[in-house]
Amino acid sequence: MSGSRLPYRVGPYPTTRLRRNRRNDWSRRMVAENGLVADDLIWPLFVQEGNDPRVPVPSMPGVDRLSIESLTEAATEAEQLGIPAIAIFPVIEPQQKNEDGTEATNPENLVCRAIRAVANRNLNLGIICDVALDPFTSHGQDGLVRNGYVVNDETVDVLVQQALVQAAAGCSIIAPSDMMDGRVGAIRNALDLAGHEDVRILSYAAKYASAFYGPFRDAVGSTTSLGQGDKRTYQMDPPNSDEALREVALDISEGADMIMVKPGLPYLDIIFRVKETFGVPTYAYQVSGEYAMITNSADQGSFDRKQAVLESLICLKRAGANGILTYFALETARWLREDQKT
Ligand code: PBG
Repeated sequence: MSGSRLPYRVGPYPTTRLRRNRRNDWSRRMVAENGLVADDLIWPLFVQEGNDPRVPVPSMPGVDRLSIESLTEAATEAEQLGIPAIAIFPVIEPQQKNEDGTEATNPENLVCRAIRAVANRNLNLGIICDVALDPFTSHGQDGLVRNGYVVNDETVDVLVQQALVQAAAGCSIIAPSDMMDGRVGAIRNALDLAGHEDVRILSYAAKYASAFYGPFRDAVGSTTSLGQGDKRTYQMDPPNSDEALREVALDISEGADMIMVKPGLPYLDIIFRVKETFGVPTYAYQVSGEYAMITNSADQGSFDRKQAVLESLICLKRAGANGILTYFALETARWLREDQKT
């Protein structure tokens, strides 16, 4: 017995040893403050015309563009693994695109047919669809361009029509991703008037003008349309954080049921502030560039894919996300199921 030991020890080390709780797997699990389950995952999927079941997206190794038939199969698989919702993104044929993106409001367009095909399966699965014109416009902008500027109010009128055809097709969650001012209120009002008061709105409320969307624009074929253009006059400026709270406050007041922060990992502070301030259902989008970074690094042997993916997802949860849109959703749901068995 060392003479320096007191009968009653209080205070910090050596009484307090934070490593004790970390010593075993079971005790790490016991004190874990956050967890990841399939309910946290939303799976974004790309759909294209034709019967080719799946065509790889070169900038997103492991991600494919799916035919409508393959999409319904993927949706079924997602449901079986306990994923609560998918997000459908259409790849529009170049000849269907024009200046004003009029195909966006065609009730028979690709995305509406895809929604109907999935909805017909009566799955226990939410169907999320973007409202924005970029897959449909020849210039790749999310709105109407007049005199070189993406105009707000005229765009909102079209977005409302787009939301209505998607809701009529069976979309359960309308997700405006265009960042026009006032679109959430306009869409909510129009949905209600059309009898779609149960269709939810997941607003891309704090969506930043980010380089990390690059691979997505490849996937939906809007990269070439956008060319040297950018989206800085409507998407948020990365240095800003207070402004994200204003965006979220407005969208909630306009009737958003859920809100999103996008991208994910570089914007953890935004997720945290939004969740702390409003306490509303808050989602993070782990975007295409984040997918590519993790996938490419793992492919090069820099780190283990599964460990890196699971860590990135739990960090998004820890920051305050209620759920995460991630291209890793299906494989993560599989990992979670396998890990439960062992
Ligand atoms: C379209 C839209 C984009 C993403 C989702 N919806 C791209 C953009 O705004 O240019 C990005 C998703 C991703 O990168 O994974 N408005």
